[in-house]
Amino acid sequence: MAPSTGNRVSARVAAVSPSATLAVDAKAKALQAQGESVIGFGAGEPDFPTPAHIVEAAVEACRDPKTHKYTPTAGLPALREALVAKTRRDSGLEVTPAQVLVTNGGKQAIANTFATLLDPGDEVIVLAPYWTTYPESIVLAGGVPVVVSSDESTGFRSPVADLEAARTERTKILLFVSPSNPTGAVYPRSEIEAIGRWAVGHGLWVVTDEIYEHLVYGSAEHHSMPVVVPELADTCVVVNGVAKTYAMTGWRVGWMLGPVDVITAATNLQSHETSNVANVSQRAALAAVAGDLVAVGEMREAFDRRRRTIHRMLNEIDGVTCIEPEGAFYAFPSVTGLYGREIRGRTARSSAELAELAIDEAKVAVVPGEAFGAPGYFRMSYALGDDDLVEGVSRLAKLFGDAV
Ligand SMILES: Cc1ncc(COP(=O)(O)O)c(C=O)c1O
Repeated sequence: MAPSTGNRVSARVAAVSPSATLAVDAKAKALQAQGESVIGFGAGEPDFPTPAHIVEAAVEACRDPKTHKYTPTAGLPALREALVAKTRRDSGLEVTPAQVLVTNGGKQAIANTFATLLDPGDEVIVLAPYWTTYPESIVLAGGVPVVVSSDESTGFRSPVADLEAARTERTKILLFVSPSNPTGAVYPRSEIEAIGRWAVGHGLWVVTDEIYEHLVYGSAEHHSMPVVVPELADTCVVVNGVAKTYAMTGWRVGWMLGPVDVITAATNLQSHETSNVANVSQRAALAAVAGDLVAVGEMREAFDRRRRTIHRMLNEIDGVTCIEPEGAFYAFPSVTGLYGREIRGRTARSSAELAELAIDEAKVAVVPGEAFGAPGYFRMSYALGDDDLVEGVSRLAKLFGDAV
């Protein structure tokens, strides 16, 4: 029998919010199960299948009894070697295999990193709009997220002056992500350099999330902060994974790159939590990162086409404005122009209420900005089929056009 005194769930875990993005997806799927035609802009995952050569490598691995066993906690030696080579090829960062820890997705790389670096009360500067997992992961590790907000006026990028205004004696880490989820912002090299130099100048760690490194469009380019500012080598952790680049969200393979002492400590932690990533998934990831980038290029082309379509169509809706996303696969339109309008008998005064209207009345799933520390916006993933995208935005245009 449960003890009659005390809380059944710890205060630490009770304080964790459910993932808003997964909640939107769950609602959309439940409506679909009832036979409704729902268009989902909620999920942050490519709509493509994993490229065939990667799947083949996994099938082969399944048949090999060696793959039925544990691997070293830090990952298959061949995968760690391949990640060293892939990192050199893609960003130019030089690391050794001892600086690589293979994790259960980028998500575990982030959780490991904060658990390894933070002591209670240490502050982490988090740039909003932020990916919804970041603050939760920091709090679970005993840290304190200090949010620095930005908006369209700077392209959702934070200048050094704003970071400096948030810095205190307790600041230990700057958390950086470019391209960004949820805004699609991509920092140019000069701004990355300025931020990196500021971090070095104040002895701060940088945790940089490069999971969308290959998804940049037009003239935007991805630059890795520890490459632009090599002085960060000893105080920087890079987070990455195969999920977004190779349409491999379900395989759960990510990694962290960092100084050897941090990677060793994080490996010890992971050895007691989850041990190694599924052996078969590691073999699939090996095929992905050791292979060429042809499939990635094809997917990027499709995302780019959809990006231009969604950007154009959203701006055609009265009350909606959207800056052009330059990376990842999200548009982040402002919807404050719709506040206070009567739409199908309801008057919404927040992006959360507008998102509810969208799913209830138009069967269109979007994630409200509240989930990203940025009320007033929708996050709309354009990693869905071209026809669905057009149909979904058309439904929103009709719904919001019905306003009186
Ligand atoms: C910015 C960012 N980082 C990391 C991740 C983690 O991805 P995964 O755990 O699927 O590798 C995501 C996934 O949505 C993301 O958007």
